[in-house]
Amino acid sequence: MLATVRSCVGEDLARVERLFDEELRSDLQCVNQLTRHVSRFRGKMLRPTLLLLTARAVGRVEPAHITLATVVEMVHMATLVHDDVLDDAEMRRKGATINHLRGNEAAVLLGDFLISHAFHLCSSLESQFASRFIGQTTNRVCEGELLQNANRANLDLTEETYFQIIRLKTAALIGACGLLGAKFAGAGPDVVEAMRTFGESLGIAFQVQDDLLDLLGDPHTVGKTLGQDIEKSKLTLPLIHFLHDAPREHRSLLRSLLRGGEPDKVEKIRNLILPSRSIAYARDAARVHIDRARAALAVLPSGEAASVLASMAEFVISREV
Ligand code: IPE
Ligand code: IPE
Ligand code: MG
Ligand code: MG
Ligand code: MG
Repeated sequence: MLATVRSCVGEDLARVERLFDEELRSDLQCVNQLTRHVSRFRGKMLRPTLLLLTARAVGRVEPAHITLATVVEMVHMATLVHDDVLDDAEMRRKGATINHLRGNEAAVLLGDFLISHAFHLCSSLESQFASRFIGQTTNRVCEGELLQNANRANLDLTEETYFQIIRLKTAALIGACGLLGAKFAGAGPDVVEAMRTFGESLGIAFQVQDDLLDLLGDPHTVGKTLGQDIEKSKLTLPLIHFLHDAPREHRSLLRSLLRGGEPDKVEKIRNLILPSRSIAYARDAARVHIDRARAALAVLPSGEAASVLASMAEFVISREV
């Protein structure tokens, strides 16, 4: 999977990484120390990859795509640096988080620095469209995190609100990658909208899988602190399903575990949920969104980039990282 991505957009991704590092360079050593950490620990580059593959599938990669792919990765990085403060996480991309390394104050400021650089870079494009659209997208991401925070410890969280949260906090940005990749390759409105749908559906499945990994994954493989959804009382799909579907005594056991502060709370909850139907339920839900994403690809002419996009969709729900 990675090898085909690399053969398709590998050089463009390398340009994105270079631009990312160049843009963040500062005259201040104390700033460079922090951004070096961010540049050293790269993630999967899912968002720039999707944007570039969409461009290639629709037409070709233009200089604007390199700028936009860098912008979306910067926005993503800013949300991760802030998210690790909110979630009290110590590990990210197999390294220490900024908050763990330098404290919450440095992490809040670095997240601001990253988002500010993202908009500064985006405003270098001739058209205002991308700045307006990415601004609207980051508004939605913030709304998603605010909605999630407002629902902390809400044991009656509905599936509907859960999906609203993840659509906003995660899928909006991934949908934006599909839209921008297509629009800046000159696609017509139907293709642009289909590629936004592709990204958004993929993004929903991506977060459901991320939430499964938070409950079941191996932190050394995933490379980040896990179990924080439970620690921070953020209900995710398997738990929401279990609280509706499991036998009454299991449901009340989960409620009391979630309310309590036992040190092995995450492990107890995992052991309670693992034999139930709730894990399969969440996996099936992710599959529905991946099928929706793949159906949206029907607008594309067949070719290597379109088939790599389809395999990326499959990767999202089978991944362990
Ligand atoms: C993590 O995103 C945050 C979520 C939206 C779940 P990624 O899993 O894409 O993070 P990196 O960029 O690969 O580290
Ligand atoms: C974060 O969701 C989504 C963002 C938009 C940052 P998570 O809190 O589950 O992300 P991870 O698991 O820490 O990467
Ligand atoms: Mg979070
Ligand atoms: Mg988190
Ligand atoms: Mg997570």
